[in-house]
Amino acid sequence: MRMKKKRHGGERLNLLSSLVCSDIENLVENKDEIFKNSNPLRIEIGCGKGDFIREKSKVEKDYNYLAIEKISDVCVVAVEKYAQSRNLGSLAPNGGWKKSDSTIVPLGSDPVDFSGEDLGNVRFAVGDAAEMLAKLPDSSIDAIFINFCDPWDKKGYEKRRLTYISFLELYSRILTKKGKIYFKTDNRDLFDFSLEQFEKSPLDVVYSTNDLHASDMNGANIETEYERNFTAKGFKINMLIAENNK
Ligand SMILES: C[S@@+](CC[C@H](N)C(=O)[O-])C[C@H]1O[C@@H](n2cnc3c(N)ncnc32)[C@H](O)[C@@H]1O
Repeated sequence: MRMKKKRHGGERLNLLSSLVCSDIENLVENKDEIFKNSNPLRIEIGCGKGDFIREKSKVEKDYNYLAIEKISDVCVVAVEKYAQSRNLGSLAPNGGWKKSDSTIVPLGSDPVDFSGEDLGNVRFAVGDAAEMLAKLPDSSIDAIFINFCDPWDKKGYEKRRLTYISFLELYSRILTKKGKIYFKTDNRDLFDFSLEQFEKSPLDVVYSTNDLHASDMNGANIETEYERNFTAKGFKINMLIAENNK
């Protein structure tokens, strides 16, 4: 995702660091305490500006969610929009944070104190998802969402695709038995490549379509930023669901 460098992106993220997880092993280990419930944990890889996770976490609220995004200046937008959607305040005109009680926390301050407020069921992490997920314990995650990941279509770059077999083996290890992968892309070549990779993995494809919006799954579909853009340009959306049968 291309994005102009955000002014004060690092400081803005720091203000909302209650929503940002710097140690996902700790999040997984102590999730009941952190989320104040014992619901299963789901992960989105490459959340972009967070439209999908904001909506998904409201519609399927009996789960907790970790949204991972490698570009900090993209993640800050996702975190701010999420915080606003959960009535935790809004961006102040000077770039600081205006709390729900209208107190302004200026840029450069310590993180906003949200004690007593409900942070909801989503946390964010900045960094490379593959590196982070490799540290997680076996069978600890209920589902993984991969929406419009980079196709890495240049020859020789297949191993970087988030649906390459080595990634699928990693997902299989950290997913619970019968845990699910949900994968969407506009890119038919990447989708066909991915189906071949799933075939070699312990993840069984239980549903697949080359035209999600014309399928019986469309009613429950939550569109992402990229999905809206590609659909507007006339692209069909491919989607698969795979189940972990390791
Ligand atoms: C094409 S955008 C799609 C964004 C969003 N999922 C959507 O559908 O609108 C892919 C996003 O994934 C992020 N990304 C790519 N590889 C990643 C990785 N290994 N770990 C975390 N984020 C990643 C990119 O920075 C980018 O924001």
